Amino acid sequence: MVFSQKMIERFRGVSRLVVITGAGISAESGVPTFRGSDGLWRRYRAEDLATPQAFQGNPRLVWEWYDWRRRLISGKKPNAGHMAIAAMEHLFEEFLLITQNVDGLHRRAGSTKLVEIHGNLWRVRCMGEGKVFPNNEVPLKEIPPRCECEALLRPDVVWFGESLSEKDLADSHMALRECECLMVVGTSAVVQPVASFPTIARNGGAFIVEINVEPTPISGWVDQSILGKSGEILPQLLESMK
Ligand code: OAD
Repeated sequence: MVFSQKMIERFRGVSRLVVITGAGISAESGVPTFRGSDGLWRRYRAEDLATPQAFQGNPRLVWEWYDWRRRLISGKKPNAGHMAIAAMEHLFEEFLLITQNVDGLHRRAGSTKLVEIHGNLWRVRCMGEGKVFPNNEVPLKEIPPRCECEALLRPDVVWFGESLSEKDLADSHMALRECECLMVVGTSAVVQPVASFPTIARNGGAFIVEINVEPTPISGWVDQSILGKSGEILPQLLESMK
């Protein structure tokens, strides 16, 4: 892959980089995406599985779905795209990874400067006390799982209709406003509020690069749209940044 000279020059002078990722970054690890022909939302209805109402109505069904996803993800490894992003955090003075993914693969690849804006399915939250703690049990011994205090546990993820953490949003907004370059990787760029993040960076004057296997709603206006697999493009991009 040959990158444009303009893009390589932009990266060379940059000290503040933000990366946004979506389910596409984990596709090459074998984790299904949400939209598209093989997407999870083709087989399942988000309303039945990823809303507070669904959990209230049928916690067992919701947990069976999360247990299935946890079992699937536990057998997968971070791919070259995750690894390249983890390496990038050492190359820039200011760096933030904003991921919509709850699979934990960025952490497993070594990323530390990250905001998991939709939560993480390897954490659970007590419905009684609100306490959040890690849970790596695969498969779960009890469905739905319960806290020591007997209250139900829920996955510590953001469901449709729920608010995102104010701190995560504030950290993301600040990094987006201040970054000189933004990379948008493997997201259909349709779910708010992340769908509007590239506009925040653009309004702050950032150079925006998108990496996706197909065009998205932002492809028409970003500075550089690279069509291809993130696991192949990102390692090459990393080399060109060094
Ligand atoms: P989507 O499934 O909507 O989009 C995945 C994107 O990845 C698509 O644009 C694909 O073209 C692209 N893609 C697939 N394979 C790729 C590869 N190897 N390299 C690069 N790109 C690839 O997933 P998200 O945009 O992450 O939210 O979805 C956003 C949110 O919607 C998710 O966090 C989830 C979902 O409903 C909640 O559950 C709250």
